[in-house]
Amino acid sequence: MDSELSLWFYSMTSAFFFVFFTFTLLFSLFSLLVFVLRSKLWCKCEICEAYLTSSWAKEFDNLCDWYTHLLKRSATGTIHIHVLGNIITANPGNVEHMLKTRFEIYPKGKTFSTLLGDLLGRGIFNVDGDSWKFQRKMASLELGGVSVRAHAFDIVQSEIQSRLLPLLSSVSGKEQVLDLQDVFRRFSFDNICKFSFGLDPGCLELSLPVSEFAEAFDLASKFSAQRGLACSSLIWKVKRLLNLGTEKQLKEAIKILDEFAQQMINQRRQNGFSERNDLLSRFMGTINEDKYLRDIVVSFLLAGRDTVASGLTSFFWLLTQHPEVESAILDELERVMGSSDEQFASFNQMREMNYLHAALYESLRLFPPVQFDSKFAEEDDILVDGTFVSKGTRVTYHPYAMGRMEQVWGSDCLQFKPHRWLKNGRYMPHDSYKFPVFQAGKRVCLGKEIAVMEMKCVVLAVIKRFKILVPGLTQPPRFAPGLTATLRGGLPVLVQEREA
Ligand code: HEM
Repeated sequence: MDSELSLWFYSMTSAFFFVFFTFTLLFSLFSLLVFVLRSKLWCKCEICEAYLTSSWAKEFDNLCDWYTHLLKRSATGTIHIHVLGNIITANPGNVEHMLKTRFEIYPKGKTFSTLLGDLLGRGIFNVDGDSWKFQRKMASLELGGVSVRAHAFDIVQSEIQSRLLPLLSSVSGKEQVLDLQDVFRRFSFDNICKFSFGLDPGCLELSLPVSEFAEAFDLASKFSAQRGLACSSLIWKVKRLLNLGTEKQLKEAIKILDEFAQQMINQRRQNGFSERNDLLSRFMGTINEDKYLRDIVVSFLLAGRDTVASGLTSFFWLLTQHPEVESAILDELERVMGSSDEQFASFNQMREMNYLHAALYESLRLFPPVQFDSKFAEEDDILVDGTFVSKGTRVTYHPYAMGRMEQVWGSDCLQFKPHRWLKNGRYMPHDSYKFPVFQAGKRVCLGKEIAVMEMKCVVLAVIKRFKILVPGLTQPPRFAPGLTATLRGGLPVLVQEREA
């Protein structure tokens, strides 16, 4: 009887596994078929062929330059990369439509939020709907006050004075090449950590130490972005399930971040947070859940670190090519500061510097730190230029291309000319939808004023005391793939102290 029962049990189990595996196999094959059908992998149009064979690279240094070329040629300012299921647009009307008018049907979408989900959790950068609205409202209240800006200004000035200038001074006049991009990444990481956590990782100390936290954050951002390069999300999901390769490294890096964040939260709880100024302490007044607090603050780290470093790197690259702009900024600095003995310009003095502001916006026009940004259509839609968007399609607006449209900026659009932003010596904002460098709709950047202030402080402090030179022949910038514009190979420079 016993053996009959176990035989019956054995055959039932085998039948169950047979049915289960057959179903799984058929389901996977079906999903693959749907994926292939939807992504039109066989598309033979000129653009898709050039994309699939990478033949565009024979003519263009960067993918964004090729896209710009195509967008300039398109009558509507919109193109389709069928094999990616991606519509790309530089049409200001379309951008306003997706980021503002029909914002509700163009969320970041599940694809994006699963890619960055392990790193960012439910943080503002990674959510849509009510959760986003709640965090946006709360963060706007916390960041809107004058005191938070003054706090950010103090952090930035202290990092410049105690770390950035001593580091530049230590290499000045020597034949020592410094990677300015790396310096700015360390600089902005120190600042955003102090601002968000009240924690100083000290990445820009003279010895340029490697902080475990910074390294873990770097790896986690890199591997999360790499997930997006896989042709199907199934690949990284299986790797994650089996804890293999980069997914294993990503998990380890995130564990370090989590432990760090938890330590910070515990410390605040023990020592009290109501007297402190950092974002974490501010949010702790409203939110009790530790994981949620961690997610919100990590989103700020991601949003505020590489963007500022990228903006500064391009600005200094442009200055090395345009000494006349550097001289004009120095003249303005002298005029505004007058006979003041202060080493640094104050917040109010900086607000008077129209030329500096124009130069910064001109640099952001040519080299926006966020070169493109995508949303996913939640329903069928028609863009302002008549382009049909079917549900589920990825729609990308392209600030890099938008800053280079001859129709908008004129035939000298590739030249670095701060004066195009000035009227009677005063800065005149361009129609923001023609230039969504900080995004231009409902999700507009929450750290815009802080970012602009941070970049201005660095530019003034550095050029007042040092001359930055690029050794050897200067190449046009080549970017590495990623969420934020990063120069491949960094920005190697020589530093010279100016004559007093
Ligand atoms: C030059 C520097 C910066 C640039 C170019 C920039 C650009 C952007 C862009 C394009 C977005 C919209 C992203 C999207 O729609 O998904 C954004 C969002 C955001 N930025 Fe910035 N950003 C910069 C600096 C900063 C800094 C320093 C902070 C923090 C102190 C910050 C905090 C945020 C946050 C929290 C969001 C999310 C807003 C939301 O989802 O509602 N950003 N930024």
